[in-house]
Amino acid sequence: MRTIYWDKSTEQVKTIDQRALPGRVEWITLKTGEEVAAAIQNMIIRGAPAIGVAGAYGMVLAAYQCKVMTSTMIVAKVLETGKIIQAARPTAVNLKWAIDRMGKVVLSNTSSTKELHNLLLAEAEKIAEEDIQTNLKIAKHGIEIIEDGDVIIHHCNTGSLATVEGGTALGVIKEAWKQGKRLKVLVDETRPLFQGSRLTAWELQQEGIPYEIITDSAAGFFLERKLATKVMFGADRVAANGDVANKIGSYMLALAAHANQIPVYSVFPYTSVDASCGMGSDIEIEFRAASELLDVKVNGNDIAPEGAKAINPAFDITPNHLITAWITDEGIIYPPFKMSDRINLGEE
Ligand code: MRU
Repeated sequence: MRTIYWDKSTEQVKTIDQRALPGRVEWITLKTGEEVAAAIQNMIIRGAPAIGVAGAYGMVLAAYQCKVMTSTMIVAKVLETGKIIQAARPTAVNLKWAIDRMGKVVLSNTSSTKELHNLLLAEAEKIAEEDIQTNLKIAKHGIEIIEDGDVIIHHCNTGSLATVEGGTALGVIKEAWKQGKRLKVLVDETRPLFQGSRLTAWELQQEGIPYEIITDSAAGFFLERKLATKVMFGADRVAANGDVANKIGSYMLALAAHANQIPVYSVFPYTSVDASCGMGSDIEIEFRAASELLDVKVNGNDIAPEGAKAINPAFDITPNHLITAWITDEGIIYPPFKMSDRINLGEE
């Protein structure tokens, strides 16, 4: 299932509106760079690799929008749109990485508008295709750690919806299942936006992989009783020392796993490494609207008193000592991680 693509006939971007899942599979059309920025900010499209690819396509849209401008004006417009898109969500480094990569193409001294359009579209398509290939490599390396009979606690959504196709941690799980390993996934709901119960459960159901949804706070129960054998999650940004920024709740999950001697695996493309951040505390954490926590009903009633305040960090940092191994397209690797690798990969 490819979840985002460039529609050649309309010269627009098509993607699944993840807010409508699991009830409806709704495809949405994005026509401008600004619409891409809004789609990223509103979680129509989410997941670190997916927003990177969306950002790249957003810069293509910006170039296509200004057909009657001079090359200099187009360059300025595309770079400006890149900045707007990058500001939509600050934590996932894949977004910045893709915008920077597109930025290099914009500045590649092309005099013809048509040629610039072609170069930008080719680069965005390349980034999207690389994501698919990267996920296949991650799955190939990751299945080495999956054992027959595993019960894996998985946090957030790291599947096709979070990437272009396949997924990272969920891609490993899908590949292991395809190869005949018997396993079960305990799907963390992933408060407050329920990427686990809405998206991961939906993807697992499509694949026929056994799963049960658990509340985020139930994870400790399963870990303490040895009813789970592994914890797996993705990454939005990985510091040079191996600290991992990922969906809020990952840290508590890793703490509980570590306390019960259950291994924790963070699974990501090497492009999620940002060695300019020496450690996790250097990574900017996105705070989202309090309404995401508060605008919820149980039995038809509000879950908090009117006027209640809430604070909503979207990510947390899992320190390196809680992580057993880092599973990437480069193999199963251990810190320190180098920035130069990431840049080279981008320039391949
Ligand atoms: O806020 P989200 O849903 O974009 O958060 C996504 C995650 O935290 C994922 O685990 C991460 O991006 C890795 S996706 C392959």
